[in-house]
Amino acid sequence: MKRFTLPAWILALCCCVAGPALAQGAAPAPAPAPAPAPAPATANAEKKEEVCFEGRKGSTDVVRKDIKPGLPNVKCSPTTGAALWYSDPFHGTVPMGKMPLLDKVTEGLAVVKPRSEKMNLLAQCATACHNGVYPKGFPKDNRPVPIPTMEAMFPDAKDFQHGNGSIWCLDCHHATKRDKLVSHFGDPISFDQPQLLCGKCHGDKLRDWRDGIHGKRIGDFTSTGKKRWFTCTECHNPHNVKDGARNRGFVQLQPEPPPQLPKGMKNAAHEKRHPIPH
Ligand code: HEC
Ligand code: HEC
Ligand code: HEC
Repeated sequence: MKRFTLPAWILALCCCVAGPALAQGAAPAPAPAPAPAPAPATANAEKKEEVCFEGRKGSTDVVRKDIKPGLPNVKCSPTTGAALWYSDPFHGTVPMGKMPLLDKVTEGLAVVKPRSEKMNLLAQCATACHNGVYPKGFPKDNRPVPIPTMEAMFPDAKDFQHGNGSIWCLDCHHATKRDKLVSHFGDPISFDQPQLLCGKCHGDKLRDWRDGIHGKRIGDFTSTGKKRWFTCTECHNPHNVKDGARNRGFVQLQPEPPPQLPKGMKNAAHEKRHPIPH
């Protein structure tokens, strides 16, 4: 046992130094310099803003800020970088807007985070691009075809696998109002209400979501309390619902470590014994 102590210690130190470098996409660092190196690295990390994600890395990021000294707006998991705790679950939310069969929920008690402010290209969609004059021509049908201009800006368009080739851009995006999604009747839908779009093809999931069986809500859990509902595209990438080649829905995350054991309990082995034999 004792002879492993030193190498294990060295390994742990290497991980601490190399970990942050890898996370930033840098090449693996060379062997760490002795003593003074860790100090500036730590100071730097403290100054850098901490960004954690809610449902989808890169699309639902929240910057950690102190609301007042010692009270952060959000706590992020050191394991995955996911948001685990909020001091104000309603920060940045707006009323969900009209939803069929949800009229019983008082306006303002169901809130969402608008998607539009997270979308980098939206401001150009119906103005600079697709402005009625440009681009020339118009898709003749909904069959998948290569769109090199879009692929250059927006790599998801190159490997679009939602629906396995049976759906294409204008099944979801409004043909003439490109800053909107589209309903089955051809009516525009706001990007902030993606559930109305997804629900036209995944009615069962919309029903589950409305009933609180699918998705996620946070806030006041009394029956008439205010809640933030997570919208479909906060978790699902609408263009890549299969995590590419993995074909299994979601990018896998490192599981969180188990919670701390209650005081006096040595291990949780007793939980592994099922009271009912099966
Ligand atoms: C299943 C429905 C669906 C299909 C099909 C679809 N999209 Fe989208 N698209 C969406 C939704 C929903 C969003 C908003 C995503 C969000 O909330 O993050 C979006 C967003 C976008 C954006 C804005 C991205 C940004 O971050 O600003 C572009 C550009 C786009 N889609 C292009 C396309 C193209 C090109 C195609 C066809 C190859 C396509 N979409 C097919 C549903 C769809
Ligand atoms: C125009 C119809 C249409 C719309 C709108 C639509 N989908 Fe889909 N979706 C499909 C089809 C078709 C499939 C493939 C079903 C199959 O292969 O069994 C699918 C599959 C999926 C899957 C499952 C992928 C898997 O691994 O089987 C998810 C998740 C999904 N969609 C989420 C969404 C979300 C979220 C939205 C809204 C942004 C949405 N869909 C909007 C038609 C649609
Ligand atoms: C909080 C995150 C979250 C939200 C919000 C969310 N989903 Fe999902 N969804 C999931 C997870 C997790 C799965 C399970 C994936 C798996 O089994 O691999 C899933 C699975 C699905 C599937 C595939 C189910 C199947 O049978 O394979 C569809 C379709 C889907 N969601 C549609 C929706 C629609 C439509 C909405 C909005 C009304 C929505 N989701 C909102 C997390 C979410």
